[in-house]
Amino acid sequence: MDFFEIVHARHSVRAFVETPVEDEKVRRILEVANRAPSAGNLQGYEIYVVRQEQHKRALVRAAYDQEFLAEASLVLIFCANPSRSAVRYAERGEQLYSVQDATIACTYAMLAAAALGLASVWVGAFQEDGVRQAIGISQELVPVAMLPLGYAGKEPRQTPRRGLRDIIHET
Ligand SMILES: Cc1cc2nc3c(=O)[nH]c(=O)nc-3n(C[C@H](O)[C@H](O)[C@H](O)COP(=O)(O)O)c2cc1C
Repeated sequence: MDFFEIVHARHSVRAFVETPVEDEKVRRILEVANRAPSAGNLQGYEIYVVRQEQHKRALVRAAYDQEFLAEASLVLIFCANPSRSAVRYAERGEQLYSVQDATIACTYAMLAAAALGLASVWVGAFQEDGVRQAIGISQELVPVAMLPLGYAGKEPRQTPRRGLRDIIHET
């Protein structure tokens, strides 16, 4: 599939089979995330790779019982690292760029996963402290997105989108 086909084929999956994701695929996904652009190329984020059952269960609890997090072969957690971005960009780096850096990296990872035939869903509904405590993330980092990865258990239908005419504002 070329890039445009991958973007069109990708959709959120919230059920996974038990088949583990190959280490080589995980490595390729993380390498793609590491190619994401970031403010000043400071890469103001950290990525946690969660495989342990007990840690995934703790993530389920932190994410308001979104059970599919425990079904996934692994969960990537993208955290903003505000102090990295603050070095050059002060408050804007701390509050905005580090969050943008982390979310762009997550987007790259999500598309890489789709290109490798894996299923995922962006998870943003969680208690930050619950996620920190689940795997011992420092208070200085801000968990902004979780990405469970695995092989799809159930393929949902494609979701609709707003029309371009509604979204695009040309002047
Ligand atoms: C910022 C953000 C937060 C989201 N949080 C959750 C979540 O906590 N749980 C969930 O099941 N889906 C979550 N989603 C996935 C969206 O529901 C999904 O992307 C949207 O409905 C469009 O469907 P699609 O991904 O299949 O195209 C989130 C997506 C984004 C971008």
